[in-house]
Amino acid sequence: MFLHTLITTLLLLLLPRQALSQTTLTNPVIWQDHPDLDVFRIGHTFYYSSSTFAYSPGAPLLRSFDLANWEAVTHSVPYLNFSPANAYNLTSGSRAYVKGIWASTLRYRPSTDTFYWLGCIDGSKTHIWTSPGGNARQNGGEVPPQAWNWSPRPVISNCYYDAGLFFDDNDDSQVYVAYGNTQIRMAQLVVDQNGDLKEVRNQVVYTSGDMTLEGARLYKRNGEYYVWVTRPADAQFVLRGKSPWGPFERRVLVDRIGGPLSSAGFAHQGGIVDTEDGRWFYLGFLDAYPGGRIPVAAPLTWGGDGWPIVVRDGGNGWGRTYPLPVNTTRKVNVLGPRVDEFKGGKLGPEWEWNHNPDNGKWSLSDGLVLKTATVTGDLFAARNTLTHRIVGPKSRGTFRIDVGAMRDGDRAGAVLFRDKAAYIGIHKTGNTASIVMVDNLNLVEGSWTTSSTGRVAATGPSVTGEIWLRIQADITPAFGTNTGRQVIFSYSTDGRTFTNLGPAFAMSNSWRYFTGYRYGVFNFATKALGGEVKVKSFAMEMV
Ligand SMILES: *[C@@H]1O[C@H](CO)[C@@H](O)[C@H](O)[C@H]1NC(C)=O
Ligand SMILES: *[C@@H]1O[C@H](CO)[C@@H](O)[C@H](O)[C@H]1NC(C)=O
Repeated sequence: MFLHTLITTLLLLLLPRQALSQTTLTNPVIWQDHPDLDVFRIGHTFYYSSSTFAYSPGAPLLRSFDLANWEAVTHSVPYLNFSPANAYNLTSGSRAYVKGIWASTLRYRPSTDTFYWLGCIDGSKTHIWTSPGGNARQNGGEVPPQAWNWSPRPVISNCYYDAGLFFDDNDDSQVYVAYGNTQIRMAQLVVDQNGDLKEVRNQVVYTSGDMTLEGARLYKRNGEYYVWVTRPADAQFVLRGKSPWGPFERRVLVDRIGGPLSSAGFAHQGGIVDTEDGRWFYLGFLDAYPGGRIPVAAPLTWGGDGWPIVVRDGGNGWGRTYPLPVNTTRKVNVLGPRVDEFKGGKLGPEWEWNHNPDNGKWSLSDGLVLKTATVTGDLFAARNTLTHRIVGPKSRGTFRIDVGAMRDGDRAGAVLFRDKAAYIGIHKTGNTASIVMVDNLNLVEGSWTTSSTGRVAATGPSVTGEIWLRIQADITPAFGTNTGRQVIFSYSTDGRTFTNLGPAFAMSNSWRYFTGYRYGVFNFATKALGGEVKVKSFAMEMV
């Protein structure tokens, strides 16, 4: 026990931290699935919000002081308060795969020290959540961790599809949302005494008959308005006008620009942000399946004519590296390799459940206790699968799990989670807990119903107490290719010697589920509730 703690402590100390004198930004900025990003700055602090579909909590918020190193701080949507609740809670046979939070938006309103998140859910209503800012404006944009406290606000009955929220810079009672697909609309909102948003005006401000444009963001620079719009998923356009209501003129910013990674689509969508000293950067993202959609950054300059230009590399493509945008001594806990022992009383912001969890069926107590929450034969219908983004290009995730309190019929384990999934886990039958590798867990693309609940591809020995279950995933982009990147599953009974189990699993490169592959841990019952497992640690390491 002591030895184990010592080893874990050493591991923590040895994990790569950001370099002491970092001089470059390397793309991808974060090698993790953080799509549909909306980026903005308060003082010396940059924020980054992204979309999460039916994962809960949703809309993670990241922060950085230099635009190159990012850490997770909170989620704007603590649980998915969308309807139907059965679908978002994965109950009564309902599910919400690929629904939920699509491209959404987050901004800070200085005059009331409030963060506003908003997003259109399932093409119908626009949901709003707010959090106090803990005097962010006075503190260079920094928010004390305990100040985050998100609460739902009355919904707006319009769908602000792919919304870009903007509080006008010299008067933040002037609130606009640019949104839409091909027909780009502008909504003007007012903030009432309660801090709720109400629409007062709405009109079409631009129509692109010749192509699909969406993913709108709204900015103001030198008194002019810029609407940032993407042609999915390979080009970025800019609309420019003297008023939020137009008329807008259009220019291409990047169109199928090369780099910075191969087999990873083209930089597009996202948004722009300036530094305190007035330099601008564009953060877009790449379709980098099987890993999902990963962000890339580049400096942005402005021509004498007032149109933006992306700084390219020597080959006229998007650079693999650029000079570090900001020199700062402020450090963040960089997203990437880490060990989590589930201490500290709450789950870290790196974790998201598959759909809303049953909060009565999990707890933190010297580890993460997962009680079975659903009786089902289908992992995709089971509640309380906890997921973690995979760091690329190649990493492994190892869950240390005590399986001693599993019951007959229970299934627990470490899953490589997506619509085409596989796992290494424990199937408990009678008094025997067998290690199994299961593949062929599939959802139907489009309807997201389950077409296959899996096949046991290999069976290992039986186990009694603790087991280490490991997934090693190569998420090097293979988008648009037939190359199925490989995943190896293995187990260990001592945490040191691992034995591979089952065939290598080839990941799907399809974009249609949107979210990339994740590491996950699950526990469900096929017979009756009452069993539990304790997850003692999770370690994500580069390989
Ligand atoms: C950061 O510091 C380096 C080394 O002193 C310098 O070359 C670079 O221009 C600085 N970058 C910024 C953005 O100030
Ligand atoms: C759905 O789950 C959320 C949070 O997990 C909970 O607050 C809510 O009451 C649940 N709703 C239903 C209808 O079960």
